[in-house]
Amino acid sequence: MSIPFSRAGTAAAVLLSVAGLSAQSVPAPAQAGKPEAGKDVYLRYSCYACHGYDGHGGAGARLVPMRMNLPGFAAYVRNPRQMPPYTAQVLADTQLADLWAYIKSLPESAAARDIPLLTKIMSEK
Ligand code: HEC
Repeated sequence: MSIPFSRAGTAAAVLLSVAGLSAQSVPAPAQAGKPEAGKDVYLRYSCYACHGYDGHGGAGARLVPMRMNLPGFAAYVRNPRQMPPYTAQVLADTQLADLWAYIKSLPESAAARDIPLLTKIMSEK
């Protein structure tokens, strides 16, 4: 009828370890990231080499517009699928916050209808 003690204990242990894991991997920067500092990190740690100076992609994925929130971004950069990982020894949480703020600040490309030469070409018959 009631949950055997050992099972409840296991569940509690799993909950605790999950809480421990997330407390470790989700950065909690003291203040919002600074885009200017993030630009420096972006260039110094060669994000530009794969993602382009404008963040619009290249060998790496397109980063602009940045749709990840900071915890998602940080979790990804720390433990990516294919790209090289940037661990806490390489990039501090504050540097990740700066990076994210910088990428957030990068402009998207203009829509085709907002590029005069393109609209001119498209309207020609
Ligand atoms: C050697 C090339 C390379 C470098 C350097 C690199 N990346 Fe990447 N990055 C990739 C590739 C390839 C992908 C897409 C494949 C994948 O998911 O791992 C990616 C994916 C990403 C994504 C996920 C995008 C999405 O929408 O799924 C983020 C965020 C990202 N990179 C940020 C960074 C940041 C920040 C840096 C610098 C600190 C950096 N990358 C440096 C190659 C690179």
